[in-house]
Amino acid sequence: MGILDSDLEEMFARSGEGTGVFPFDVQPKKITEKEFTSFQQLIHHISGIWLPPAKATLLVGRLLKRLRIRGFSSFDEYYGAVTSEPEELTEMLNAISTNETRFFREPLQFEFLEQRILPQWKADGKSGKRSRRIRVWSAGCSTGQEPYSLAMLLLHHLPPSDGWEIEIIATDLSTQALETAMDATWEIAKASEISDRYLKAFMLKGYGEQEGRLKAGPEIRQLVHFFHLNLNDQAYFISGKFDLIFCRNVLIYFNVETRTQIVRRLLQFLLPEGYLFAGHAESLHTMCGELRAVMPTIYNHARRPGQQANAHR
Ligand SMILES: C[S@@+](CC[C@H](N)C(=O)[O-])C[C@H]1O[C@@H](n2cnc3c(N)ncnc32)[C@H](O)[C@@H]1O
Repeated sequence: MGILDSDLEEMFARSGEGTGVFPFDVQPKKITEKEFTSFQQLIHHISGIWLPPAKATLLVGRLLKRLRIRGFSSFDEYYGAVTSEPEELTEMLNAISTNETRFFREPLQFEFLEQRILPQWKADGKSGKRSRRIRVWSAGCSTGQEPYSLAMLLLHHLPPSDGWEIEIIATDLSTQALETAMDATWEIAKASEISDRYLKAFMLKGYGEQEGRLKAGPEIRQLVHFFHLNLNDQAYFISGKFDLIFCRNVLIYFNVETRTQIVRRLLQFLLPEGYLFAGHAESLHTMCGELRAVMPTIYNHARRPGQQANAHR
């Protein structure tokens, strides 16, 4: 199997480069079946991400830039670099990860949080049934929109003045995505994804050199702590348990076996009364013995141990 030049042409046509031509500095490359299989297995072994043969064009498109930067003329040569240089492995994982995200993505989930979960927490906090400390994990946080959306919503509804303490841990495999997330600065166009109420309360608009940029304000920045974490690792270095775990639009890149293992590991970090949020395309129905759907894509532990919600912290 080879990637045909016509596949590449199609790829550039889709990216707005026009048909029949390639950008001047791009040398179309072919990947052999053997080369593709080597990358497929390496990527799966390291990250859990499964690339079926239909994704070969995508892989070529994403790796070409690295080949060009490193001056390699074949994928085989590049494979040699990736397997012998840890920095190049990191670059490759950055190149192949899909970091698409949005503020308040999948609004129905945020509505559920606002209308069903938070009122319960508030009532339980008032009656002393639960602590006022909330811990959230955004696993696969990409460039930060997900954890900052959570920070805005939680800070608005559970203010420190009412005794609430919020901690958000945000992790990702891509060091490049994490850099943007930690900088907490995005194109101003992203402001359209955030309600006026939250924009005014929690976001900053750049001026001068920062014209055209949107930045998270200090109140929400101090709630979110970023770490590099590979969900495919056998053990996670995260400590303590969480009220909410968001792992959305990440599991979709894994096969059923890897997905099941990862969700099982995540569940060890979910409090007995906690909620796991998945993406809309990530069916976890094969795990019905371990998960109970409270609405499509939002889950509790199927069997909840008898402990109090705050007994594990
Ligand atoms: C499409 S983004 C989803 C971002 C956000 N959760 C959302 O729903 O908008 C998928 C993210 O998963 C990350 N990812 C993929 N494989 C991973 C792994 N093995 N460990 C940690 N993060 C991973 C990617 O780097 C990427 O940032």
